[in-house]
Amino acid sequence: MSVLKDKRILLGVTGSIAAFKAADLASKLTQMDAQVDVILTPAAEKFITPLTFQSVTGRRAFTESDLWGGEAHVLHVGLGRSADILVIAPCTANTIAKLAHGEADNLLTITALAARGERSRTAQCPLLIAPAMDGGMFDHPATQENLARLKERGAYIAGPAEGHLASGLAGKGRLIEPAELIGHIRFVLGRKGRLAAKKVVVSAGGTQEPLDPVRVLTNKSSGKQGYALAQAALDAGANVTLITTPTSLTPPVGVCVVNVQTAKEMMNAVLKESADADALIMAAAVADFRPKQAAGNKMKKRDGIPQIELEETEDILEAAAGQKSGMKRPRVVAGFAAESRDLLENAGEKLESKKLDFIAANDISSKDAGFSVETNRVTLLFANGKQESLPLMSKAEVADAIIERVAALLE
Ligand code: CTP
Repeated sequence: MSVLKDKRILLGVTGSIAAFKAADLASKLTQMDAQVDVILTPAAEKFITPLTFQSVTGRRAFTESDLWGGEAHVLHVGLGRSADILVIAPCTANTIAKLAHGEADNLLTITALAARGERSRTAQCPLLIAPAMDGGMFDHPATQENLARLKERGAYIAGPAEGHLASGLAGKGRLIEPAELIGHIRFVLGRKGRLAAKKVVVSAGGTQEPLDPVRVLTNKSSGKQGYALAQAALDAGANVTLITTPTSLTPPVGVCVVNVQTAKEMMNAVLKESADADALIMAAAVADFRPKQAAGNKMKKRDGIPQIELEETEDILEAAAGQKSGMKRPRVVAGFAAESRDLLENAGEKLESKKLDFIAANDISSKDAGFSVETNRVTLLFANGKQESLPLMSKAEVADAIIERVAALLE
């Protein structure tokens, strides 16, 4: 969660029935170590109280009455100046219209204007708008024009989602869920990170090799470490392509997803995406063998126990590191070594034979590391002989550490 740590997030809440979701958002952001300052518009106060936000953020929430208090003349400037991002969620059609036209008639719209003013010292404070309204209001040309105008000025628009609306109708207008909103906030905050303008390709999940139309040979990889790496690279500002097998995970917001199933499909995707990449991290558990011939029809019990002949799959990392195909190699190529014995010896061999810049070795025989669990314990082995043992960490922390090493190698 490093990209949110100590970030100052100014959260504007406007008058929508979805205002209750903003409390959950504020709570989640606070738990991720962000400093959340909330401004409620007068209409928002009809749906939710400042006390709700104060209770979850541990910080004072601002309302219209603060505009007319002792610090009135500087409050709106101060709030905007200190913020790393201004998020307005939920943002009504009315507030969108005001923002588009530079109207400043309440503490939130005044602050938005002060934070984004071209001559202001805080012109860089990004604006993220999460619309919430009835479908008809969202589709209305006035709202669409206002949003287009805001986008043109550099605002990020997140959502709205389709589904049930407070009016009882279904359509596009629902505030996106807090978890997805956090993904958008991370994406915006990360844009100026160490890997800005760099392309990072990450592979994730376990490949599936068909035996027949319904059965596959696969492994226990959940994809968690690979998805965490994609998120960490996004947090660092990279353009990220995630090449993934089917998993139960939701790809991070902002990632470019390439879906694959077999080792062969993953190989083609990795080689294609690596051609213009700065870094490749192979976190996927690739099958080493596949059935030589997948049965055209479902294998039946009555036909007896099948004799399955296997053949070796291609080594994707070796090919991507430029060994077989003679292609352009990403500047940093990294892999994982999942081992159940002789961890460092086996990982060292892979580092060398696959010509990697570094490899993350993990002992899958331990209960708290490797496949399916939330944590991992890895030792990083570098091409220059350096070794670094990381303590037991969450997969997100391991990912942050690996991405930091990738950034250092690219610098
Ligand atoms: N890998 C790959 N292509 C393969 C097999 C593995 O690119 N056909 C990559 C994995 O994504 C991982 C690294 O190589 O980053 C090591 O994978 P691992 O399964 O630990 O090792 P193998 O190369 O399969 O060697 P072994 O079977 O001896 O363990």
